[in-house]
Amino acid sequence: MRAKKIIFLNQKGGVGKTTTAVNVGSVLAELGYKVLLVDLDSQGNMGTAVSADNSKSGVYEVLAGEASIDCAQTTPVENLYCLTGGINMAGVDVELVDEPNREFFLKGALMAAEDKYDFIFADCPPALDLVTMNALAFADSVIIPMQCEFLAMEGLALLLKTINGVKKNINPGLEVLGIVFTMYSRRANISNEIVEDITNYFHDLVFKTKIPRNVRVCEAPSHGLPINAYENNCTGARAYRQLTMEVLERANR
Ligand SMILES: Nc1ncnc2c1ncn2[C@@H]1O[C@H](COP(=O)(O)OP(=O)(O)OP(=O)(O)O)[C@@H](O)[C@H]1O
Ligand SMILES: [Mg+2]
Repeated sequence: MRAKKIIFLNQKGGVGKTTTAVNVGSVLAELGYKVLLVDLDSQGNMGTAVSADNSKSGVYEVLAGEASIDCAQTTPVENLYCLTGGINMAGVDVELVDEPNREFFLKGALMAAEDKYDFIFADCPPALDLVTMNALAFADSVIIPMQCEFLAMEGLALLLKTINGVKKNINPGLEVLGIVFTMYSRRANISNEIVEDITNYFHDLVFKTKIPRNVRVCEAPSHGLPINAYENNCTGARAYRQLTMEVLERANR
């Protein structure tokens, strides 16, 4: 077994990276896959969303060589584990900047997890910084969550350019697994226009499943539960289950 390594990236804040990583990871865990969530963000949202304790050792300590990947915490969902992020991650950019091979620290640090999990999902901060470069050097593929709102397209060009740069120089095997629309509202004209524009441009790269705006999805993290453990039959949970099937199919291609 070698884990499939997928990162969730968009340098724009608040577009659903953490929500999507947690909920797709949780559906995979429900299906019996062993999944490691890795929170690369200093906000610590991913750990909080799965009831992990951000004050314990997490990915920072693993990067620093102070802890092993065995410090990954269990979560309320069987088969779902979390290496927490949190405030320490805010300093990593500065700490790594003068290191040789500074883009490859995460890849080295998580190597030991590769034969212990089926999937490793890393949640990126909303920035194209050195932490994100480490994520891109580590990953097999990238999922890009996009909120259906004005200017969504703006950042996408820069993001794809960055990914192509990484592909050329650091990680030739890297691919974009797909773009997923989040917080979609069928009734909002702007949502539909953006979906149409981006789908016309990127075709099959766009996942067929759109994640609707759903109050349960928004509430679940404050209960420390992924959506399938919080309210398994709401529209949000159903959408995330459907998206997970697409992710599985693409990851296995
Ligand atoms: N489908 C949805 N319906 C309703 N609310 C949602 C949905 N998806 C995400 N949210 C809410 O939107 C906010 C932003 O989502 P999330 O934290 O996943 O984005 P992010 O891209 O990880 O943000 P950041 O860039 O700050 O890390 C959160 O409050 C989340 O609960
Ligand atoms: Mg986030």
